Amino acid sequence: MESNLHFSKVSEHLDQIPSPCYVMEESLLRRNLELIRSVKERAGVEIILAFKSFAMWKSFPIFREYIQYTTASSPYEARLALEEFGSKAHTYSPAYIESDFPEIIRCSSHITFNSFSQYERFYPLVKAAAEPVSCGLRINPEYSEVEVELYNPCAPGTRFGVTADLLPPCLPEGIEGFHCHCHCESSSYELERTLSHVEAKFSHWFPQLKWLNLGGGHLMTREDYDVEHLIKLLQGLKSRYPHLHIILEPGSAFTWQTGPLVSTVVDIVESRGIRTAILDVSFTCHMPDCLEMPYQPKVRGAETLPEDAVKNAGAGEYIYRLGGNSCLSGDYMGAWRFDHPLQVGERIVFEDMIHYTMVKTNMFNGIQHPSIALLHTDGRLEVYKHFTYEDYKNRMS
Ligand SMILES: Cc1ncc(COP(=O)(O)O)c(C=O)c1O
Repeated sequence: MESNLHFSKVSEHLDQIPSPCYVMEESLLRRNLELIRSVKERAGVEIILAFKSFAMWKSFPIFREYIQYTTASSPYEARLALEEFGSKAHTYSPAYIESDFPEIIRCSSHITFNSFSQYERFYPLVKAAAEPVSCGLRINPEYSEVEVELYNPCAPGTRFGVTADLLPPCLPEGIEGFHCHCHCESSSYELERTLSHVEAKFSHWFPQLKWLNLGGGHLMTREDYDVEHLIKLLQGLKSRYPHLHIILEPGSAFTWQTGPLVSTVVDIVESRGIRTAILDVSFTCHMPDCLEMPYQPKVRGAETLPEDAVKNAGAGEYIYRLGGNSCLSGDYMGAWRFDHPLQVGERIVFEDMIHYTMVKTNMFNGIQHPSIALLHTDGRLEVYKHFTYEDYKNRMS
């Protein structure tokens, strides 16, 4: 699929958009959803939305035209699945808590346990529940090509999942599925290699199962993703184990390149030759993955440069660091090269800021939280939420 960024219409509507604002574009979302639905149908698998990456619930009616289910990692996400997505969640949490568990049962069609001790504590409650819930176990294949330790679920000593050596030949009562999550922004070729490890270690138990959840991190909507290869891979897996219902639960792939964070320059400062444009947004508050991963986001109309370039800007070059409006010293990124001197009041548009942003933001320093909006296909901007002092105040007491 050609990069969604070529099709963005946000620049045409900048004057209607409040600042700061996350703007999801309906037409770009539908492109991704169409591709995901076609993979689901052609491969004969289930593809569900991981709320941990995106939970802008007012847009769920659009998702429901393409997919039926979601995955939750907490009681709140599970409740959102039931109440706003309209279907029970596939739930996995590293550790369920006694007081939450009745709500998890009420809102889930599938519950995956991370360990045998969690299974032993909570399975009796599932068994006694009024409605049937299908239970699974998270497995750890001890293989992942994710290089950033922060995002590697299979790193030695990981707290996620049960290794093959700890599984009894006959699975405990009620375990109907395996769940494994080993990817992050990964390709189908990484999935292929991971699957060969999963099958080598765990296929012995597959006859005892009904479903296999291959987790998230399948970035099938990225421009260079080999979708045909993914479909063949999944078809092959299904032909080897026709009784297994195969589930994929990506997050990022759904909202990959579906809209920017629109911000404004509020000041320009210079220190020891480094020029910083300070914005009405913050990396640490509103784009936390930039600092955590770390990665430097694309800025519309600007060239991304290595950080050092800001120190070596020649005369007549418009190279800037972009700074957040929090008091965290490291709340900045860049360099970027612009084709003109930046001015206070000018818009700065950070590309691809829909996944792992709104679900992770905070109100550190009491900074204004960006509004949340949908740019409809017909060009109408719907501001879903504008944050106020009350939102800040209500998070604390
Ligand atoms: C268990 C599980 N499922 C799904 C996902 C979604 O992954 P992604 O957004 O990379 O597709 C994650 C992300 O951390 C995860 O931990």
